[in-house]
Amino acid sequence: MTKKLFIKTYGCQMNVYDSERMAEAMGGEGYVTTDKPEDADMILLNTCHIREKAAEKVYSELGRYKGLKADKPDLKIGVAGCVAQAEGEEIMRRQPMVDLVVGPQSYHKLPELTQRTHNGAKALDTDFPEEDKFEHLKARPKAKRGPTAFLTVQEGCDKFCAFCVVPYTRGAEVSRPSQRVMTEARDLVERGVREITLLGQNVNAYHGHDGGLAGLIRELAGIDGLERIRFTTSHPNDMDEALIAAHGDCEKLMPYLHLPVQAGSDKILKRMNRSHTAEQYLKLIERLRAARPDLHLSGDFIVGFPEETEADFQDTLALIEAVKYGSAFSFKYSERPGTPAAERPQVPENEKDDRLQRLQALLTKQQRELQDAMVGRDVTVLFEKAGRLPGQMVGKSEYLHAVHVETDQHQRGDLAKVRIVSSGPNSLKGALIPELHTATA
Ligand code: SAH
Ligand code: SF4
Ligand code: F3S
Repeated sequence: MTKKLFIKTYGCQMNVYDSERMAEAMGGEGYVTTDKPEDADMILLNTCHIREKAAEKVYSELGRYKGLKADKPDLKIGVAGCVAQAEGEEIMRRQPMVDLVVGPQSYHKLPELTQRTHNGAKALDTDFPEEDKFEHLKARPKAKRGPTAFLTVQEGCDKFCAFCVVPYTRGAEVSRPSQRVMTEARDLVERGVREITLLGQNVNAYHGHDGGLAGLIRELAGIDGLERIRFTTSHPNDMDEALIAAHGDCEKLMPYLHLPVQAGSDKILKRMNRSHTAEQYLKLIERLRAARPDLHLSGDFIVGFPEETEADFQDTLALIEAVKYGSAFSFKYSERPGTPAAERPQVPENEKDDRLQRLQALLTKQQRELQDAMVGRDVTVLFEKAGRLPGQMVGKSEYLHAVHVETDQHQRGDLAKVRIVSSGPNSLKGALIPELHTATA
């Protein structure tokens, strides 16, 4: 009998990928996914522990399912992901209605753990097993899918930034062998995928290919039908010559790079244990732009890290002014249990709020300026879905800008050359360049 699985995903793209794999694993047990928790036989929260707010959401979300569980005692409730890893037993204690807890490195055991919860028992697995979960997951299904996909190639982190829980929740850095990645990528392309984003907490530290991440990208570029390659997230210290060169001459590698720096003050970078200076980061950007002058950069920033002064914060603003980001994510520092920075003198909350506002004002202004500067330029759009208006399609440019285009000759998965004609608050408008349009179906 088919049963229904509702999965809610929090956090980073890696969790999005993991949720897909968990849904596929449960597919083998007769589960199909639903987007309505009230119809579900199993509810799975794939959680994020990166900031306190993210972690706390899990408990409020679980609270919302109390009624459902009371009405339907057979309903299974599971917690997966990074909160599961960090707080496994505490979750069981705080929310007795949770049937199972599974960490990010052991979710290949989800079907077996679910079996164990029949007749009311609890199951918890937050091991970092020796075996590679990807090798223990069943082959991925062959069904058609949309034009873009994530593909995890590297997981875990050995960098231990002083603020971050990831090395504890995801474990040590591991790379998947390139041949396995190639097989999965070919399968995705056969199923209709045109753009693959390679994922890893430190994706540019990938070592599953003799040529590192650059070697893997060049091999992927040989797959017919795969039109675009992206990767995220990179650490500045692992950005090697080969990868910089790939940005210059590998056509399928898109001119967009997420390269978090977190802060612009050397004192703070040192206390964050980022092991590079602001100057080294700026030099790296220069080299990247020398290889690919139109590269769009994106970053992550933390404001109010312990002992950050106004002068330190000004250094961050100055670095942002120097780089000019196409997009960015910024956060108030959040104390995470067990991380070294949580023990340091904290910046008052109102200071953090004020700095975040000023930082975001600058980032939004830059983002808008770079987006407006696209008007008049020609880009290629990969169509992902129909627009809200009839006869309209929406897709992404090379630079990851959303672009609306009026067209009756394209469908999902097609690429088209368009000229940008205007820039709105969150997207661009493009017009087809008929003589150049390159429809691939
Ligand atoms: N591996 C990636 C990022 C992982 S977490 C990297 O090294 O860049 C994503 C972002 O969350 C980080 O870049 C950082 O900006 C933010 N972050 C991580 N821990 C945080 C904390 N304790 N408080 C606030 N933001 C945090
Ligand atoms: Fe966290 Fe730093 Fe590792 Fe990124 S590099 S996952 S911020 S410890
Ligand atoms: Fe969150 Fe874990 Fe990703 S803590 S950001 S879901 S690696």
